[in-house]
Amino acid sequence: MSSLILSGPFAVINEYFNSILPNCYDAIGLMLMIRIMHQHQLIMSWRRIPCLDSYLDKVNISLWPRFKMVFDLHLGSLRNANVRTLLEDDIHPHYVMRHYAEFTASLIHLNVEYGDGQLELNMEQLRMAVDELLMKLAKMFPRPKLQTVFLINNYDMTITVLKEASPEGGKIQFHFQELLKSSTALFVEELLLEHFSDLIKFVKTRASEDPSSSSDKPITVAEVEPLVKDFASRWKAAIELMHKDVITSFSNFLCGMEILRAALTQLLLYYTRLSNCIKRINGGSALNKDLVSIS
Ligand SMILES: *[C@@H]1O[C@H](CO)[C@@H](O)[C@H](O)[C@H]1NC(C)=O
Repeated sequence: MSSLILSGPFAVINEYFNSILPNCYDAIGLMLMIRIMHQHQLIMSWRRIPCLDSYLDKVNISLWPRFKMVFDLHLGSLRNANVRTLLEDDIHPHYVMRHYAEFTASLIHLNVEYGDGQLELNMEQLRMAVDELLMKLAKMFPRPKLQTVFLINNYDMTITVLKEASPEGGKIQFHFQELLKSSTALFVEELLLEHFSDLIKFVKTRASEDPSSSSDKPITVAEVEPLVKDFASRWKAAIELMHKDVITSFSNFLCGMEILRAALTQLLLYYTRLSNCIKRINGGSALNKDLVSIS
């Protein structure tokens, strides 16, 4: 019945639709249409007038392959991206990553009530492609520390954008949080090594031993004294330098402060191990006046 009455309008709409669709490269727009079609169908079924179902099904069926095709174009351009032309010699978030984050956030948003497995699979592929590209971009920075800073800035921006789309967080957000965690640990270690390499080397190689039991080469006051004095004279200035470094490296102030806090925690850990070791050395109490109080 409806097809008979509406065949004229349908013909006009179809003609227009069929001419528009092959030129549409807007994946978000296509997904939005798919969702709107579905909502239309739901509303009409609640009102018990499902007369447009077969028409809307047809539209849905023609939208999906187009969406998939446009999505694959995005995937292809990430996979085949020319790293050299994309590189901006800037440690701040890269615009490709920002586009990726916003694109993904929109799709996550459009999938909230649907939980479409196929779409999730597609987003997973896109995520892997962008991971790879970001790694390649990072490798273009000559210094490992800058590589890590670049990665942290990009991960942090991505997480912020994804959080806006779904505050409860999903698989993709979790993935970037894990990457952020491991990159942060890497950066903290690099940063501390720049300023306290002797202390760290000592703690890692010697301080775990029990000084009384290690018979061949017990730790002596003479061995730790330069470490203790050096730390006492420099720690404030070094932390100041670390603070400056962090402020200029990270685009997001909060993320930077989080990283500085992690660095200071780690430093405290190293220093505590040093002071515990000194307590166990014969005559170690002579160094008490030079030890910085943990608090
Ligand atoms: C729309 O088409 C897709 C792919 O052909 C299908 O998986 C989905 O169930 C369809 N949606 C509706 C509401 O019919």
